Amino acid sequence: MYCEELFLILLVLIVKNKNTSEKCTSLHHINVLEGEPFHLKPCDISPSSHKNEALTIKWSKMNTLHDRIELDTSSSPRITSQGYSLEFWPVQLDDEGTYFSQVGNDEQNWTLTVIKRNEHSCFSGKLVYSRKVESKKLLHIPCEDSYYQKLINSTSLYKNCKKISPLKKNADPGDQGYYSCVLSIHHNGKQYNLTKTFNITIVEGHNNIIPVLLGPKLEHTEVELGKDVELNCSALLNEHDKFYWNIIKNDSLYPNVHEDKNVTTWISDGKLHASKILRIEKVTEKNLNFSYNCAVVNTEATDTKSFILFRKEMADIPGHVFTSGIIVAIFTSVAVVCLVIMCVIYKVDLVLFYRHLVERDETLTDGKIYDAFVSYLKDCHQENGEEHTFAVQTLPRVLEKQFGYKLCIFERDVMPGGAVVDEVHSLIEKSRRLIIVLSKSYMTNESRFELESGLHKALVERKIKIIIIEFMPVSDLTLLPQSLKLLKSYRVLKWKTNESLSYNSRFWKNLLYLMPAKAKPDGGDSETLPVLSVP
Ligand SMILES: *[C@@H]1O[C@H](CO)[C@@H](O)[C@H](O)[C@H]1NC(C)=O
Ligand SMILES: *[C@@H]1O[C@H](CO)[C@@H](O)[C@H](O)[C@H]1NC(C)=O
Ligand SMILES: *[C@@H]1O[C@H](CO)[C@@H](O)[C@H](O)[C@H]1NC(C)=O
Ligand SMILES: *[C@@H]1O[C@H](CO)[C@@H](O)[C@H](O)[C@H]1NC(C)=O
Ligand SMILES: *[C@@H]1O[C@H](CO)[C@@H](O)[C@H](O)[C@H]1NC(C)=O
Repeated sequence: MYCEELFLILLVLIVKNKNTSEKCTSLHHINVLEGEPFHLKPCDISPSSHKNEALTIKWSKMNTLHDRIELDTSSSPRITSQGYSLEFWPVQLDDEGTYFSQVGNDEQNWTLTVIKRNEHSCFSGKLVYSRKVESKKLLHIPCEDSYYQKLINSTSLYKNCKKISPLKKNADPGDQGYYSCVLSIHHNGKQYNLTKTFNITIVEGHNNIIPVLLGPKLEHTEVELGKDVELNCSALLNEHDKFYWNIIKNDSLYPNVHEDKNVTTWISDGKLHASKILRIEKVTEKNLNFSYNCAVVNTEATDTKSFILFRKEMADIPGHVFTSGIIVAIFTSVAVVCLVIMCVIYKVDLVLFYRHLVERDETLTDGKIYDAFVSYLKDCHQENGEEHTFAVQTLPRVLEKQFGYKLCIFERDVMPGGAVVDEVHSLIEKSRRLIIVLSKSYMTNESRFELESGLHKALVERKIKIIIIEFMPVSDLTLLPQSLKLLKSYRVLKWKTNESLSYNSRFWKNLLYLMPAKAKPDGGDSETLPVLSVP
């Protein structure tokens, strides 16, 4: 509010030229409208002379013929002298000319141009006061005149010569136009019009924002030497703010640095934004660790921002190499996983193949005599016949004849009589494996001793490894010694009469796998015997 009032006062001051005396005429070239009251008054009449009533003022006029004639103000009612003023009631076209006033030694002059009244307009274009009013600021047309103030009878306001009511409002673009204020003045019983016309132009208020650069004040940009780089500086600013990259143009030190001439602007949220690019072609060492500054400046504020280039740490992997790298890695891992799975599935075959390939032999240096001690049910009851045949005939046929192992089968290899317990004990100690042929009756049989003794060595002394062959399905496992259940399941082989006949069957491969590695004796019977003897 305060500002608006101040603006108004300023407007009045300009119109009235008030800083000299309100009644004095300071301009030297004056335009007046034909038919309006008018007056001239010299300025700076010294107070001493002012007080001295004896000092009189003399008026003279120089006409177009350059004759200077003293004016007789008492003879004409139209042109009168009032105090130190010369008044025209009203001014006429033939009043044009140069007027002189003389008070004592002080002489002043004015050149008067009388403008002919335009029949079609309420004012003359040559007699307007141009005023700019900011949009949204108070618009007020002052209708007053300090000299004739006491004589003013009424005032009326016209906009573009159409009468309007007195105006006091906030300006908008529609308010632009010519405002004529007509003061009705009475003098000597006559009415005169004094017209003042203002050419009002509405201007955009400069509601300047404080310009700012967007983003952090210091930005580090990774670059690769030899590549081009674009630094993008963006600002929130006013239309006429200065926005630039602070670089020396055509700098011979940095010939590869160019400020883009183009400024990209856009409006967002009703606010003006701009961005300007600094191009650095083929970045060199010199461009690194150097501060490139961008600035936005107006009369009220300044903002700057720095960009520093630094070398990219690692060599960049091009996109396609990266992608194919990932694909290769995936395929490799899938392949590895497959390989591991295959290895697990075909572990036994692989181990056997490996043993065969390197002719590995674990049996040479351990000082033992037998590769395996075979424990089975020794009583030849009818129901154990098959088991007996398997242990005494089939096992040796395959393991000894075909694969060159040396078995210890108590019934076959040990003479009857003697201390059975000691004998068994020492035989087991001389064997590398304990093969237990398991069947239902085994559990209840005396041979259980062998089992227990072997288990003791296997589990406590860790001297012998046990291989269990489930010859018949053992349903009631509760009969087995507790320790047997601790054996790893792969050490238990199931004999299947129908499927285990071939040497290539899983059963024999697994058995060979559990047996110690042994090089096959050379020139052994190359002829392959059937697993089961043909009855
Ligand atoms: C009024 O003001 C406008 C804008 O400032 C200007 O273009 C025009 O010439 C002015 N008119 C007169 C009669 O001075
Ligand atoms: C103007 O003033 C004069 C006397 O001062 C008066 O006679 C006249 O009626 C007034 N006119 C108007 C329109 O007020
Ligand atoms: C003064 O202006 C009024 C209208 O505003 C008009 O009626 C009147 O005749 C004018 N007087 C003179 C002397 O021009
Ligand atoms: C610069 O950044 C501004 C936004 O921050 C974006 O609008 C403009 O498109 C960018 N200019 C270039 C050339 O990338
Ligand atoms: C600037 O902009 C104009 C028009 O969009 C385009 O033709 C010109 O190439 C640009 N100049 C630069 C240096 O980008």
